[in-house]
Amino acid sequence: MNIKHIYTSMIAATLLVVSCKDTKQSEKTANNTMVAEYKGKPITKEFDAKIDSLVAQMTLEEKTGMLHGNSMFATKAIERLGIPELTMADGPLGVREEISRDSWTAAGWDNDFATYYPAGGGLAATWNTELAYLFGRSVGEEAIARDKDVLLSPAINIIRSPLGGRTYEYFTEDPFLNKKITVPFIVGVQENDVAVCVKHYAANNQETNRDFVDVQIDERTLREIYLPAFEAAVKEAHAYSFMGAYNKFRGEYLCENGYMLNDVLRDEWGFEGIVISDWAAVHDTKKSIENGLDVEMGTPKPFNEFFYADSLIEKVKSGEIAESDVDTHVKRILRMMFTLKSIDDKGRAKGSINTEAHFEDAYKIAAESVVLLKNDKNLLPLKTDNIKSIAVIGHNAMKKNALGGFGAGVKTKREVTPLEGLQNRLPKSIKINYAEGYLERYSNDEKAKLGDITLNGPVTINTLEPKLLEEALNAAKNSDVAIIFAGSNRDYETEASDRASLDLPFGQEELIKKVLEVNPNTIVVFIAGAPFDILDISQKSSSLIWSWFNGSEGGNALADVILGNVNPSGKLPWTMPKKLEDSPAHATNSFPGDESVVYTEGILVGYRWFDTKNVEPLYPFGYGMSYTTFEFSDLKTDKETYNADAIIEVTFNIKNTGKVAGKEVAQLYISDPESYVEKAAQELKGFEKVFLKSGSSKTVTMQLPAKELAYYNEVKKQWLVEPGTYKIKIGNSSRNIKSEVSINIK
Ligand code: BGC
Repeated sequence: MNIKHIYTSMIAATLLVVSCKDTKQSEKTANNTMVAEYKGKPITKEFDAKIDSLVAQMTLEEKTGMLHGNSMFATKAIERLGIPELTMADGPLGVREEISRDSWTAAGWDNDFATYYPAGGGLAATWNTELAYLFGRSVGEEAIARDKDVLLSPAINIIRSPLGGRTYEYFTEDPFLNKKITVPFIVGVQENDVAVCVKHYAANNQETNRDFVDVQIDERTLREIYLPAFEAAVKEAHAYSFMGAYNKFRGEYLCENGYMLNDVLRDEWGFEGIVISDWAAVHDTKKSIENGLDVEMGTPKPFNEFFYADSLIEKVKSGEIAESDVDTHVKRILRMMFTLKSIDDKGRAKGSINTEAHFEDAYKIAAESVVLLKNDKNLLPLKTDNIKSIAVIGHNAMKKNALGGFGAGVKTKREVTPLEGLQNRLPKSIKINYAEGYLERYSNDEKAKLGDITLNGPVTINTLEPKLLEEALNAAKNSDVAIIFAGSNRDYETEASDRASLDLPFGQEELIKKVLEVNPNTIVVFIAGAPFDILDISQKSSSLIWSWFNGSEGGNALADVILGNVNPSGKLPWTMPKKLEDSPAHATNSFPGDESVVYTEGILVGYRWFDTKNVEPLYPFGYGMSYTTFEFSDLKTDKETYNADAIIEVTFNIKNTGKVAGKEVAQLYISDPESYVEKAAQELKGFEKVFLKSGSSKTVTMQLPAKELAYYNEVKKQWLVEPGTYKIKIGNSSRNIKSEVSINIK
């Protein structure tokens, strides 16, 4: 690879260059012809004179009060100048319940109920940018209704290993899908005069040792895989705040990393918002102040002991830190506050929370997120006409996931479980025989606390209770159909801890296999946020569904998919491996590292690895079935040869050739078979979700900016589009390409 890189730099002069400065121009070209892209509003500068005058009136103590937590989720107000606190709340699944001002315990309010939205994996699985916008708008309305200035969301780190504890919260393994979901989400939130806090910037792809692990990623991989969604969050969505991650990157903590915070984020991308630390992620007053961190937040120690509190005051007084540096951070915060209308709140959005309309938003997202993995016997959709009884088996049928684990949850008045969803949707004539089947049990080991579940070894109890097993088998035997709800939950998949293996916990594998033996008409439904080892089960069972921690209406949406009221259209946002060792970070034995972790697989993350190394996944990236069938035809481009800043117009036809209406996700991948540098076998560069009635067809036009074909040249520090021939492929998963054409770049 090194030799290749040197060679690349030698020939770079002959390549077509799309520099960072040029992108604006190409974006402009793109905008003129492209489908409506989501664009955010920049931070306003119209109050700069007022801000200068405010800062001139502040004492040093007042200034530093704005730079650090003065309660768990807010900074200090300066009442005499009319500056309120900057208020924040988690998070990705909905607005978190109110937390006490000085500890993690719940504040115990009775008016902080919120809508629980599908977790990140579910949203990404919709492959629907409009739903990402809807999600953002809806949760933004809730945040402003709770008087929050900053919503600590979205969480957009790339899923590097299937074991990652926060896989459920993050979107995907693919940088293109990541940015396409991230941007509309941000635009939706910020339309409500609430800032997002895009997290966790950056290279925070594991929970193990997250407080200190030093992540080593080569520059090309960083740019091509780990940063694109963050970059789009700034350049396209105008995100108002970012969260500095816990870990180190190339030897420096992210909250004091001059390269990442000043050089890349501000100087290169033009970020004008504020950087807030992850909770207790700051380590050094001077380094953080000078390297771009604006606000220090954290966990309890007296608030005056924060790095940005007494220590900062002392260092300014002793001359170690210039007061003008402090002013720079204060001014940024004030600019954001004026943009959010939080200082002078005339005309600020009011929002609404915990409403039917928002539950409906959560339903829409959930309904498009469910992935049909297998339907060999056409058991699905379940035809209820000839059915008298259904066995509903598994603890997950009743499990609620709005709260749980170590991270942000949502206190909600509504969480429809899978069992309740079926009860709501099935005709009353059908008898439901419920059996819990397995117990969610953890070892009594002292170490087996939440957030520690996997770090210290397998601490779940994986034996079945004979009585529960017997009940489950009886229910299955005595019912026409059995549905097993298996998978995990938000205590098992959790922040602060990666999983130790892909094994299904709590004895579920044994339970599923035994139920399959007694009732072949069994549908297995997984509710989880991350891949599991389901190889054996997928071979033995005919009908498999994948659902997520799927929000307030998750159970209703799932029942609607099972019964065919909704035709499934979710597609996996990550690769389901046959076994852990097939995944790139594990195949290269580079997860989770120790003091440091080297991302040895480089750019070959997720399907890029599987496709380039010819490893067969169990279910590929982008995969998901429908109750209907689609045919793709007539793929063509508007020209054969393009300039590097052109828009490539790709058209093709999709026809719904089945008996019911449905949505298909057309996916556009590119391959560069003639490249001088190492490239993945193929990369996602476009997608569109298309609704088609039975028998109808549609011509889809996708605008592919040629700059999307670029790779990052480390030596030139530029994105380069190599001239030559590229393949453009259209399919409905990364492993089901229906048609391809070639184009040339001059
Ligand atoms: C998490 C963040 C979260 C913060 C505040 C941290 O532990 O990493 O994602 O926003 O806590 O709850």
